[in-house]
Amino acid sequence: MKCVVIGAGGHGRVVLDILIRAGQHDPVGFLDSDPRLLGRRVDGRRILGDLDDLSRLVAEHGIAGAVVAIGNNGVRREFAERIEALGMVLINAIHPSANIAPSAILGRNVVVAAGALVCAHCAIGDSVILNTGCIIDHETMIGTASHICPGARLAGRVTVESGAFVGIGATIIQNIRVGCEATIGAGAVVINDVDALDTVVGVPARPAAKAAPAISTASVSERPLTASQALAPVPGPLPDGRATDRGPALHVDCPDAPAPDTVLASS
Ligand SMILES: CC(C)(COP(=O)(O)OP(=O)(O)OC[C@H]1O[C@@H](n2cnc3c(N)ncnc32)[C@H](O)[C@@H]1OP(=O)(O)O)[C@@H](O)C(=O)NCCC(=O)NCCS
Repeated sequence: MKCVVIGAGGHGRVVLDILIRAGQHDPVGFLDSDPRLLGRRVDGRRILGDLDDLSRLVAEHGIAGAVVAIGNNGVRREFAERIEALGMVLINAIHPSANIAPSAILGRNVVVAAGALVCAHCAIGDSVILNTGCIIDHETMIGTASHICPGARLAGRVTVESGAFVGIGATIIQNIRVGCEATIGAGAVVINDVDALDTVVGVPARPAAKAAPAISTASVSERPLTASQALAPVPGPLPDGRATDRGPALHVDCPDAPAPDTVLASS
């Protein structure tokens, strides 16, 4: 399927690399809102326009799919919703070296980077980034538009609510709930639940003095988040046994995301 990568920054380059290596789709170019980039090439792919040009580009280039490669959790979510409203397919970018259990389910617009490990019965929501080498252990749920940074390790039955940011190298022990749009600092070891919007740092993790969220989403997620979680029907794996490319919409939102046991019961 011909597709575009939304966002030509560092994360966009990573996502392009994943798509090329996975060989599953044909990334024809980028969209980016920076007018200075228009017509230039990034890693061999041209910046074709911005999101407002998408309808025209669909007709001109036969583009049917898109993946939003923007680090800001709120912007990534908002753009994904705009793209779906245009009737386009939100594709996933899954690196060939990622290891995803067949029982795990993924939403749409999910990026799973090199070496990431997703264990049995995990539920990964729409527009989530599972970055390089992170570990998501059994029955863990990652809420819509969260970002799990490189090398982060989440133990079993962790719940990360929507829009949360788990910093590079952070560790979260089993059964912990990280609240909506919370921020976990780089290298933190989280042994207690984290409230929505809080920032915690250190070992063990404690609220950071004067810290602001690593990636502020306040300006773009003004409407209340839905609390639905569409876990069924669960899409089947691809012929090669890998997780499906385009799953059902998988909104894993706060405050009443079901407990991990509920996920198990429905999968
Ligand atoms: C937690 C974080 C978001 C805070 O950023 P910030 O709002 O700019 O906060 P500041 O840098 O002003 O730091 C506030 C306090 O927390 C401390 N702090 C910040 N980050 C910390 C961390 N990761 N571990 C321990 N302490 C930390 C600072 O030393 C400072 O303490 P002080 O007031 O006693 O001096 C940021 O430091 C962080 O860890 N970001 C994660 C980056 C990341 O993972 N990037 C990967 C992208 S793929």
